[in-house]
Amino acid sequence: MNIYDAINQRRTVHNYNPSTINPKVLNRILAAGHMAPNHKFTWPWRFTVVGPQTRQALLPIAYKLKNVTEENMKKRVRAKLINPAALVVVTQARSESAFQEQEDYAATCCAIQNMLLAAKGEGLGSKWSTGSLTQHADICQLLKIDSEEEKVVGFIWFGEPKNIPTIERPSIGEHIHFLD
Ligand SMILES: Cc1cc2nc3c(=O)[nH]c(=O)nc-3n(C[C@H](O)[C@H](O)[C@H](O)COP(=O)(O)O)c2cc1C
Repeated sequence: MNIYDAINQRRTVHNYNPSTINPKVLNRILAAGHMAPNHKFTWPWRFTVVGPQTRQALLPIAYKLKNVTEENMKKRVRAKLINPAALVVVTQARSESAFQEQEDYAATCCAIQNMLLAAKGEGLGSKWSTGSLTQHADICQLLKIDSEEEKVVGFIWFGEPKNIPTIERPSIGEHIHFLD
């Protein structure tokens, strides 16, 4: 896929059909993430590929967070967490320097965008989420992430889109200044 087509056509996909991912495709997407730029060769990104059993374990936390008790609401939450073909949790290695932490966050975000674009090229939808589930106090323990060493930058969902949203972008002119 042409790089501009991938950039222009990538959309955050919220709803997915139940699907699976070819491990080779997932590996290509992860490898694209690992190609991101980073300052001072800190390679700050970490990728946790969350398998089906662990994804099931996310459900009770999500139900509690959203106060979900009714079966039809549980079904909607299940669709959100179980339908996507893959969940990759991206974390960033912590740093003692605030400046390095900022640089590393930028690099980790580049890694995520690489993965979102690679997924588009693979014909998959994707979503970067920083919602309440991603920040829940029990999440790191569940995902075997040492929260003293790493912090969660996002849950990245991949899969077959049920629908692709359209959004209105402000005109690019408001975002560019040309100087003589
Ligand atoms: C750092 C970051 C965090 C995001 N977190 C969420 C989220 O928690 N929930 C959500 O629905 N979308 C989330 N998004 C996706 C944005 O809502 C989405 O990118 C925006 O609406 C623009 O749509 P587009 O991605 O289709 O261009 C996040 C995006 C970024 C960059």
